[in-house]
Amino acid sequence: MRLLISGGRILDPQRGVDGEGDLLVDGDRIGEGTRADRVIDARGLLVVPGLIDLHTHLREPGFEYKEDLVSGTHAAARGGFTTVVAMANTSPVSDCRATVEWVIGAARARAVVNVLPVGAVSKGQKGEELAEIGDMAAAGAVAFSDDGKPVTNGELMRCALQYAAMWGRPVITHCEDRQLAGEGVMHLGYWSTVLGLRGIPAAAEAAMVARDIMLAELTGGRLHLAHLSTARSVELVREAKARGLAVTAEVTPHHLLLTDEAVATSGFDTDTKVNPPLRTPADVAALLEGLRDGTIDAIATDHAPHHQDDKDVEYNYAASGISGLETALALVLDRLVGQGLLELGQAVRALTAGPARVLGLDRGTLAPGAPADVTVIDPSREWTVEPALFASRGRNTPFKGWKLRGQAVLTLVGGRIVHEAIA
Ligand code: DOR
Ligand code: ZN
Repeated sequence: MRLLISGGRILDPQRGVDGEGDLLVDGDRIGEGTRADRVIDARGLLVVPGLIDLHTHLREPGFEYKEDLVSGTHAAARGGFTTVVAMANTSPVSDCRATVEWVIGAARARAVVNVLPVGAVSKGQKGEELAEIGDMAAAGAVAFSDDGKPVTNGELMRCALQYAAMWGRPVITHCEDRQLAGEGVMHLGYWSTVLGLRGIPAAAEAAMVARDIMLAELTGGRLHLAHLSTARSVELVREAKARGLAVTAEVTPHHLLLTDEAVATSGFDTDTKVNPPLRTPADVAALLEGLRDGTIDAIATDHAPHHQDDKDVEYNYAASGISGLETALALVLDRLVGQGLLELGQAVRALTAGPARVLGLDRGTLAPGAPADVTVIDPSREWTVEPALFASRGRNTPFKGWKLRGQAVLTLVGGRIVHEAIA
């Protein structure tokens, strides 16, 4: 394949430039008879659209000790992501035009990948009063979410779906019935019983998925379900899609690869604590099937970096979340595609065109005219997950020490190289 890039966009792949074989060509003044500024030999490598993460916690403003726009977007670039959707559970919460504009401006100045801001559903994410949805949409919020917290009040969620629909934007929901989840810290089941930890039933998620699907139907609004973790949730989404509702969904690498047993085998490693919690083998199988049959549209990281002090405490008190940007691609390539659980094309789509479609973005493709967001992957490069080497400030990963095959070796955003590790 030959890919020509000029002025930050993909050119017609047929236009003439010297070179042969499997090449990525990167240059500013490519035209008839002109040589490229730079020719990158991509033989034996995979050249794919830049990966898009629908679910990233960049922590800025307010929690820079966990992550900031620089460290978080460098982590994205190293992981092969060229676009990240930044969640609103910052401090202050991104719940008004001023904060959304601030994130956009700060990202323009300091981020190395595209940062698309999410606005909160409710003021201060308190779940009481609707935030200024229209104002934030006008400022550039691509979606609305109280992620980190559920929207407990059904009437508030109904209004959010209605308002967001007027702007053609989805509401991204973190489905959790807080009363059912109670004081739970892991999945309610065999392992929580064995370990004596309080459990979160699968119904705490599925019940809210059902409610939100009904509200999407009632309002005609666009619903995107974040980090699905249970088999029942997948069934509900499959049924909603069959009925033609505007519902989409994502799944994380950790929910596809780990089960609640990991809490035991890791010896209560708090890096296995995440919300929603790691579930059962049957849930994992259903999530994979959902991904394969298109019920689930995207793989998203839910990159949730935390400081060591938030994790170096008893399991009950530890913060929930996994630093995911730098491991997602390799986990998917090695442990899903490499194990024959997912086809390569399905995996790439779930990280590119799938998430682009969820947000209606003109990205996730290498078609002529598209922004030159490109990721080059060495599918055979072997490496070991060493959190100390992460660009992210969050070293909280249950995958530490895993030996993986596959790595992003070149990441281009708008034609600019933001990560390069070609051997
Ligand atoms: O584990 C999680 N961490 N789940 C969430 O919903 C929020 C996230 C965070 O912000 O740390
Ligand atoms: Zn969430």
